[in-house]
Amino acid sequence: MSTLVKGGTIVAADRSYVADILIEGESIKAIGTGLSGDKVVDAADCLIMPGGIDPHTHLDMPFMGTSSSDNYDSGTRAALSGGTTMVVDFCIPDRGQPLMDAIAAWDKRAELATADYSYHMCVTYWSDKVREDMAKVVEHGVTTFKHFMAYKGALMVNDEEMFASFRRCGELGAMPLVHAENGDIVAALQKFYMGKGITGPEGHALSRPPEVEGEATNRAIMLADQAGVPVYIVHTSCIEAHEAIRRARQNGMRVFGEPLIQHLVLDESEYYNKDWTHAARRVMSPPFRDKKNQDDLWNGLRAGSLQVVATDHCAFTTKQKEFGLADFTKIPNGTGGLEDRMPVLWTYGVGTGRLTPNEFVAVTSTNIARILNLYPRKGAILPGADADLVVWDPKAKKTISAATQQSAIDYNVFEGVKVEGLPRYTLSRGSIVFEDGKVLANNGRGRFVKRAPFAPEQAALAKYKAYKAPQGVAR
Ligand code: URP
Ligand code: ZN
Ligand code: ZN
Repeated sequence: MSTLVKGGTIVAADRSYVADILIEGESIKAIGTGLSGDKVVDAADCLIMPGGIDPHTHLDMPFMGTSSSDNYDSGTRAALSGGTTMVVDFCIPDRGQPLMDAIAAWDKRAELATADYSYHMCVTYWSDKVREDMAKVVEHGVTTFKHFMAYKGALMVNDEEMFASFRRCGELGAMPLVHAENGDIVAALQKFYMGKGITGPEGHALSRPPEVEGEATNRAIMLADQAGVPVYIVHTSCIEAHEAIRRARQNGMRVFGEPLIQHLVLDESEYYNKDWTHAARRVMSPPFRDKKNQDDLWNGLRAGSLQVVATDHCAFTTKQKEFGLADFTKIPNGTGGLEDRMPVLWTYGVGTGRLTPNEFVAVTSTNIARILNLYPRKGAILPGADADLVVWDPKAKKTISAATQQSAIDYNVFEGVKVEGLPRYTLSRGSIVFEDGKVLANNGRGRFVKRAPFAPEQAALAKYKAYKAPQGVAR
């Protein structure tokens, strides 16, 4: 059966134009005028964009003595209803757990998926076996490895471990990702503020100042440069971290930066709210920042020094947040956003003139598809691409509310925010999976998307190093 998406304006990362889209099976067959299909999807007065890709989620993730409350069911439903058709989730091995066993555990969780998904593998400890198993992970189609420079005593790895892993990534044509905060300093500041009797959520913000993120971002970039690999910095939240990324890019390094929708819109005053619950619900790392950082992040998206807007969706209920009632270091870190990323970014980005519609597409799907080697299967409206589309009504309005969300938690950090610009339909591989405010996809519909290694980038880097060798800069 074929489907025709008719009467809309296609918005791609590089241009906008009026045309219809013919879908056959799961992929785009043709784009143009005068096409016909068995079923017609009405896109009149709408924009048709590639389905969003959120490269940073934690669904059903064991963390800080509990597990995030949105699993692959509620999490991917939230994604589809917000126009996101693919998520990349973090697979986190327990200390000593073989990496492929962790993948098997994540595959079990992902049986509930309604949207397509991939994983980043986390390197949470180091051994010869991890080194060997990284090859199996790449072979399996997971070509990105995440390193936490924070969460001391839990997920954190030290520089020696991180450097060894980065070099291994280089050998395998894989790319390292980094959570860049100096975990030693955070631990020391947590102790300091708790000692001063600051036990509430404001202590979370105070103990993770921009300097700890700036330092770690610089360090990660320098280690990646030494190891000869590109590096992707997750949840870039402040001027100091953005500056490190921008400088590295100006110096010719392949470094990518990912702000979150939360950091673009919400600020640190949330942690000083008199209501403990309000503040604790917003505890995440890095914390929301002073407002001045927001302009800087928006500028980076426009200038191209930051490439992707993600959510770091890691949702905990109020009850879970209450583990930290007497001690802010015990509040589970994480917030939601999967359902709201696209509408909030459209409203605060395109609606204010900060972003063009094409830039919106670039930072919500196309750039990350290219960075993760998913393009043009994902992140593109082209013949042969998966028919992952969002039919976007730029005039549709709603007020964000936990009462109507797909997420399983009992609040929303964007509660009360008025958005203009919403999906009318979301299509995943040719099927309508969201329409009229309802998710129509069944569990198990979502598929694992295998990714190939970054061979050309690595080969280019090796060639460039050899070329530079006579000038004495070989490593
Ligand atoms: O607070 C956050 N970001 N929670 C999820 C884990 C992480 O650091 O990405
Ligand atoms: Zn993180
Ligand atoms: Zn995260």
